[in-house]
Amino acid sequence: MKISIIGSGMVGSTTALRVLEDRTATSLVLVDVVEGLAKAVALDLCQSAPLRGHSIDVVGGSDYGPTEGSDLVVITAGVPRKPGQSRADLLGTNAEIVAGVASQVAHRSPDAVVIVVSNPLDEMTTLTWKVTGFSPERVVGMAGELDTSRYRYFVAEAAGVHPSEVDAIVLGSHGETMVPLPRLTTVRGRPLDEVLTADRIAEIVERTRNGGAEIVRLLPRGSAWMAPSASIADMVAAVVRDERRVVPACAYLRGEYGVTDVYLGVPVRLGRDGVVEIVDLGLDPDELASLHRAAETVRSRVALLDETLPESDADASDASDGLEALRVESRVRRAVTQVLWERGSADPEEIEALTRRVLERMKGG
Ligand code: NAI
Repeated sequence: MKISIIGSGMVGSTTALRVLEDRTATSLVLVDVVEGLAKAVALDLCQSAPLRGHSIDVVGGSDYGPTEGSDLVVITAGVPRKPGQSRADLLGTNAEIVAGVASQVAHRSPDAVVIVVSNPLDEMTTLTWKVTGFSPERVVGMAGELDTSRYRYFVAEAAGVHPSEVDAIVLGSHGETMVPLPRLTTVRGRPLDEVLTADRIAEIVERTRNGGAEIVRLLPRGSAWMAPSASIADMVAAVVRDERRVVPACAYLRGEYGVTDVYLGVPVRLGRDGVVEIVDLGLDPDELASLHRAAETVRSRVALLDETLPESDADASDASDGLEALRVESRVRRAVTQVLWERGSADPEEIEALTRRVLERMKGG
């Protein structure tokens, strides 16, 4: 399978290393906007071949040409958090970067499955889906794997067991509305509340929600990359080998869990064509309410993308139809919001309905 990784920073380069060592790619292409970076990382990886036994050529550069016809694209381009920043603070900068990258992916690799990693994750996954115009099954975000891995590690540490003996899943958004599920967590097959006290479980849930920030505070710059790249590599393996096993991932919901038209972290079966199925875990009313709160947070942030999306410039030649459509949609939504504000009403549902009506009319000529 031909795999391209966009962004050769900490997450992108370690993902490339894991993909190489997992032997999941038959061809690996790295792209980074910084001249020389992707080429240097590719060369460095190739020079480890005699020691690590992998044999495929890794190509790196700033040009998207070599990515042509990729089966799987991983998007890690963007800026990471600084101490004190939330993932949402990255929205403006990364929207511009990810929209440009997604546009290139749509042109060069129209049949690819895309795994989005750039933050804020749920919003960047939505943006990638819109800009590429791909079916939602082919665009997924990586966050739940990482959040779940952090949670399992913290539980294992507290319970004194091996991390692989903790079964768990974390849903929701990659941020403050993350939804760890202690009720469905088991340690060596026993329910978590039989192993740890309620206070200890609450502490672990909180630490998981802040798992990324804890690392950001310790680092001189940037954010975590080891567990993130391990999580991406796991998703890559599920796609490449068409495993169809359940992983937590950011996927597009069409009524599952009572949520419609939002990208959110849920359990999915992941295979060669992307999301094969969204799996229903049978959540209780409190868990469902938490998931719905997460969905509303993502929905409101996606609306903010309108403010941040770059306007069409003179060099629109590399813009995909999806990106152009998104720009038109965002101009219409802004105009509709303005008109409704002036009339003293700014009900989000009304804005959405009117925006849709105007867009339908425009399509109809
Ligand atoms: P980094 O700064 O080490 O690397 C980012 C790379 O993207 C840089 O090399 C930069 O030159 C490149 N880049 C920027 N604009 C680009 C463009 N237009 N085209 C191609 N490349 C471009 O950052 P790091 O640590 O690798 O993180 C990357 C992203 O992943 C960040 O947004 C971070 O917040 C996110 N992240 C998400 C996680 C998740 O669970 N979803 C976990 C960890 C990081």
